[in-house]
Amino acid sequence: MLDNPENIYKPSAEFIQNAHVGPDKYKEMYTVSVEDPETFWGEHGKRLDWIEPYTKVKNTCFDFGKVSIKWFEDGVLNVAANCVDRHLATRGDQTAIIFEPDDPNAEAQHITYKELHEKVCRMANVLLSQGVMRGDRVVIYLPMIPEAAYAMLACARIGAVHSIVFAGFSPDALANRINDCGAKLVITADTAPRGGRVTALKSNTDAALLHCSDKVRCLVVKHTGDQTTWIDGRDVDVKALMETAAPDCPPRPMGAEDPLFILYTSGSTGKPKGVVHTSGGYLVYAAMTQEYTFDYHDGDVFWCSADVGWVTGHSYIVYGPLANGATTLMFEGVPTYPDAGRFWAVCEKHKVNQFYTAPTAIRALMGQGPEWVEKYDLSSLKLLGTVGEPINPEAWNWYNELVGKGKLPIVDTWWQTETGGHMITPIPGAVPAKPGSATLPFFGVKPVILDAEKGTEIEGNPAEGVLAIADSWPGQMRTVWGDHERFEATYFQQYKGYYFSGDGCRRDEDGYFWITGRVDDVINVSGHRMGTAEVESALVAHADVAEAAVVGFPHDIKGQGIYCYVTLMNGIEPTDELKKDLEKWVRTEIGPIAKPDHIQWAPGLPKTRSGKIMRRILRKIAENDYGALGDTSTLADPSVVDDLIENRMNK
Ligand code: WTA
Repeated sequence: MLDNPENIYKPSAEFIQNAHVGPDKYKEMYTVSVEDPETFWGEHGKRLDWIEPYTKVKNTCFDFGKVSIKWFEDGVLNVAANCVDRHLATRGDQTAIIFEPDDPNAEAQHITYKELHEKVCRMANVLLSQGVMRGDRVVIYLPMIPEAAYAMLACARIGAVHSIVFAGFSPDALANRINDCGAKLVITADTAPRGGRVTALKSNTDAALLHCSDKVRCLVVKHTGDQTTWIDGRDVDVKALMETAAPDCPPRPMGAEDPLFILYTSGSTGKPKGVVHTSGGYLVYAAMTQEYTFDYHDGDVFWCSADVGWVTGHSYIVYGPLANGATTLMFEGVPTYPDAGRFWAVCEKHKVNQFYTAPTAIRALMGQGPEWVEKYDLSSLKLLGTVGEPINPEAWNWYNELVGKGKLPIVDTWWQTETGGHMITPIPGAVPAKPGSATLPFFGVKPVILDAEKGTEIEGNPAEGVLAIADSWPGQMRTVWGDHERFEATYFQQYKGYYFSGDGCRRDEDGYFWITGRVDDVINVSGHRMGTAEVESALVAHADVAEAAVVGFPHDIKGQGIYCYVTLMNGIEPTDELKKDLEKWVRTEIGPIAKPDHIQWAPGLPKTRSGKIMRRILRKIAENDYGALGDTSTLADPSVVDDLIENRMNK
């Protein structure tokens, strides 16, 4: 029995009829997938083309101290050949990528699989000519342009490992990532237009490379043609070289467990971790989730509005869709440029069938009025999706009524950089939606709710605790680049025998999962993951700052905003000017996405006698929730709290 009938949204009969997976098939497939993963994945692994087929399917161990994850380990394949070459015979002239530029008046590009093949080969040959070899790391710092996809696939083609750094990150953040993964080369663009504004990517890269080995080369995509500085011998015009490079480049046979990419993501402590994904399992999982979660059918136009700098862009703009021979849309711009109708204009223009975005984008558009949606013909849409954070009921209803006209399934997909693909999500033809719930697990995923203190599984429904996964799935990250111990400590130490997600979660009477947000010191700002520790270390790097503590607080549009408590050095005056200066400082240290929303001067921070900052209290003060501060008796100096509250109220 469903516990809340008026808030359940079932797919239409028509949708179910055409769906890959209907209600009965979901249960049947799910049961096999978790009871007999070898058979299930052994079968589904065949969706890829293997140069040497695998004989072993699953070889995984979650025991702390011995964590090891291998899928299809003796199989040999090439990821780029799976995303491009194998489609040439059947769909060479089909559009692989639709590129919609930032400027709505600039012409969209339709890149066929044949053209994609040629571009990827040429780019691969350029990389080879620059001395990039199998296993070498290549950092990609590009805007949302087709060259980003060419670069990813070119790396995959020759067995190099890419690491994309979101184009909104600062030179410092870029330098740290180049150094951490020991990249041989960075690929960037001259400048990047976005929402009508221009980011100077090449000059950011120049600034970053000052902190890197002078052996690192810089390939520059001349995208806008804007003038940039040029260092002969280091900087290379990649488009010019592609023109003269050979249009063919044999794909290199790679082991299923060879790394495909590293993607840095924030955790609760220390610097961002390089999440490592490998070739076979990741691609099987990205492709399978793209097909089943979105009920993608041959010929559909699929649009994921994320950026390739995040995992969502990796799995659902490039790898998943292209492995399935889909038409995938790449959008360079932002939802509000030139106006709040842009998403819907693009859906109409390219007859998009599945649209996947973040709740923060929906919330930003909601405030602009329904007319921006109503103007456009959205009849091509068959399904909507969200990712990145829990979706609030207002945003869900708006998305459902205005965009979906009350008729389309909405898939709320819970997953992480670490998981490679969707973990908890409705299978749209089978699982009715409840607004705000990611519903039920994807095939092969065994989510459990653990008691946060005891680490034991809470059986039965309803249940509330922390979310962990009891067994491996093919898309799981394999390690932290260069630090397997950190991988084990982060995900397998606290709750032995499980992968710990870092999220809190509730399971309702019907077994539906409701993510309640992070239980660690990670905040989710506009769907971007950020470690509060990163912002704190940026703040304390400023000469006037003695100490800083950063917490998240509820923000209408961003989901969470960044709230900073700052203690200044002795003798430094707290002025508005200094606040502005600190905001700017954090922007340049990390990037615009980390800009503080609030800075509160804090003469002292609430600490335990052992010196640990009590963030729980700081969170409550930031939320203006003084009644629920909880136990403050363990504080070294409880009067600090009164001062902070007083300051907060006077703001
Ligand atoms: C959050 C993005 C609720 C969650 C793919 C997770 C979500 C973190 C959802 C991962 C969702 C992601 N509902 N929360 N549908 N999707 N999250 O690594 O806290 O950037 O741990 O991966 O985002 O963020 P990441």
